[in-house]
Amino acid sequence: MAKLNIVGVGPGSPDYVTPAARKTVQKAEVVIGAQRSLNLFTDDIKGETMILTAKNLNSALKFAVESAEKGKNVALLSTGDPGFSGLLQTVLKSGFVKAVEVNVVPGVSSIQACAARLGISWDDACLFTFHEGDVSAEEKIELASCIKKGKEVMLLPDSRAFPPREIASFLIKAEVDKETPVFVCENLTLDDEKVTSSSLEEVSKQTFRSLCVMVIKANHKEKG
Ligand SMILES: C[S@@+](CC[C@H](N)C(=O)[O-])C[C@H]1O[C@@H](n2cnc3c(N)ncnc32)[C@H](O)[C@@H]1O
Repeated sequence: MAKLNIVGVGPGSPDYVTPAARKTVQKAEVVIGAQRSLNLFTDDIKGETMILTAKNLNSALKFAVESAEKGKNVALLSTGDPGFSGLLQTVLKSGFVKAVEVNVVPGVSSIQACAARLGISWDDACLFTFHEGDVSAEEKIELASCIKKGKEVMLLPDSRAFPPREIASFLIKAEVDKETPVFVCENLTLDDEKVTSSSLEEVSKQTFRSLCVMVIKANHKEKG
């Protein structure tokens, strides 16, 4: 059966591209990915390339699946790990995949890079992604509830639909202590990586870059 490889490319630095990801791309006859992902493989790509954008997502996925169905070896590049807020779910939900085998090559997620940067264990953390405007009222309520229960939260904001500033304002309105400690980690692993250690109140007044992970620390005052 033809194979569609969904390849995790890590948070952005070439240092976090795995050898398995590189080998998969080297063997691919078709490589599809965002420009910043393709740039990580300039010396590896031998096949045809297609630049993935928010606008051509559907047609690019269709092309990826059709190429695999024709027997071509296809690599679809997904930032971080494909399984967290990545292209795996998009492909599985697309309905295009019928006669191809999906092979996932794991990558280092921005969540992992963030936890490592802050030196925190994420065993018990509540994970959320609001990327691509995926912001339901239920998820917002669950977010506030996790923090009130004293759990640590790691989340991917959406720079337009639900940026860190609005997340912080929402939580303060939901009666989470405004002094709750917050970290915002921008452009992880890249040369201009920045970590801001702050509070909900301060974050509610600030603007951050679009590539960021937000960590809301367990506030044990809330529990009792
Ligand atoms: C479409 S999601 C992809 C997440 C990816 N699958 C992962 O595992 O990291 C894109 C979001 O991931 C986060 N992100 C990706 N790379 C990042 C980086 N280098 N630094 C901080 N956040 C990053 C940002 O929140 C960004 O909006």
